[in-house]
Amino acid sequence: MTEQSVQIRLATPQDKDTVCRIFQEAGLETEAALAEGTTYWIMQRGGQPVGAIGLEHGNGASLLRGAAVLPSAQGQGLGRRLVMSAVEYARARGDQAIYLFSKKGDWQSFGFTQVPLAVVMSDVPDTPQIRAYRARSERPGGTTWMRPLDVKASQA
Ligand SMILES: CC(C)(COP(=O)(O)OP(=O)(O)OC[C@H]1O[C@@H](n2cnc3c(N)ncnc32)[C@H](O)[C@@H]1OP(=O)(O)O)[C@@H](O)C(=O)NCCC(=O)NCCS
Repeated sequence: MTEQSVQIRLATPQDKDTVCRIFQEAGLETEAALAEGTTYWIMQRGGQPVGAIGLEHGNGASLLRGAAVLPSAQGQGLGRRLVMSAVEYARARGDQAIYLFSKKGDWQSFGFTQVPLAVVMSDVPDTPQIRAYRARSERPGGTTWMRPLDVKASQA
């Protein structure tokens, strides 16, 4: 098969349906996708959307809100490229850390370590996903992960 070019582009409000479709096909919730205070991206291969990812921004930290690759395109390195691109964006934004909730999977190979739920709840309390949990008096299930970004003062 010929190698098709892969591009990650910023999602606009008009891309909401595309982002939600990719999240749904990957088994993720779509609640508050592209809400205010977030940045989302779409990954395209050969011009077709194959993945999406979002960051919900807090003050000095972000919550990785869904990393999704269509099932037919998984296992080919696309997810890693998406996640690393979001990590670099957060670092450039000056974030000290990225958090993530996952129901399955081991995120250590992406540089994340497990942290108690209380850490993310207090560090990014006003992100859309955490607000939504609070409004429903629910707690995110699964595992909470954090990736420190080691932003040096000289780079700020
Ligand atoms: C997680 C996901 C984005 C990875 O995308 P991908 O294109 O399959 O990943 P890659 O081919 O780049 O592989 C990267 C690594 O992800 C790992 N991986 C696969 N599924 C994973 C998951 N659900 N959680 C964590 N890691 C996962 C792979 O084992 C691989 O590790 P390795 O490089 O050490 O072998 C994709 O599997 C997906 O959309 N899953 C469903 C949605 C989901 O669970 N998202 C994460 C929670 S927000």
